[in-house]
Amino acid sequence: MELHVHDSHEGVSRTAAETVSDTVSENPGANLLLPTGSTPRGMYRELVRLYREGGLSLSDTTIFNLDEYLGIPRDHPESYRRYMQENLYRHVDADPARTHIPDAETPAPEEECLRYDAAIKETGGADLCVLGIGRNGHIGFNEPGSPFSSRTRVMGLAESTRRANAEGFDAGAAPEQAITVGMQTIFESRKVLLLASGPEKAEAVAAAVEGEVSPQTPASMLREHPDVTFLLDREAASALRREVA
Ligand code: GLP
Repeated sequence: MELHVHDSHEGVSRTAAETVSDTVSENPGANLLLPTGSTPRGMYRELVRLYREGGLSLSDTTIFNLDEYLGIPRDHPESYRRYMQENLYRHVDADPARTHIPDAETPAPEEECLRYDAAIKETGGADLCVLGIGRNGHIGFNEPGSPFSSRTRVMGLAESTRRANAEGFDAGAAPEQAITVGMQTIFESRKVLLLASGPEKAEAVAAAVEGEVSPQTPASMLREHPDVTFLLDREAASALRREVA
């Protein structure tokens, strides 16, 4: 794995956006697997800037999201569908027929998972997968205990995750369940980029980079991937034992 530490969140965002943009310039028909959360907002801002400056088009690119809450309206202000609209799609030329996200309102979640997984597989897997990381080491919504062999499925969310993501939900906590692509689906991506910033991610990053490779810290399993880069800011890197440049 590669580890890059930037002075600030902006550096992480810029480098992540450049990686996405380079992937799409080399192959306009690329398949991307993309995250939500506060960490990648800066990356999306940069992508919108690149698009406005004429340096990026997403019109031929296929984009899948990693996850979506289950049992909320599709257009709930905290739905990931809405997040992608607000942060990326309404500002760029992405083709709605090529953008995909699990259906939060599906009456048949298991079938929705199979359909979504098959759709990603049909494209040949992602050329680039960009991830954030949860405070307990989750990626997408693969919570601790997610096996390497997992594919897209319904996940019960950890209490700590529901509290961390509570903002915007009336109940004071995020929904109990979500649909997430699985660990194996992530592994089938040709290149993986994990973004982390802020002190609240330091422990999860240290466990992922220097702890045991184990389903208890899903992000640690990425160390087995042949092309993975962690892009961190100084605060997210602050609990690492190794020297970082
Ligand atoms: C959610 C998402 C993850 C994301 C994590 C961290 O749980 N499902 O994909 O990585 O939050 O989010 P944030 O960047 O807001 O800390």
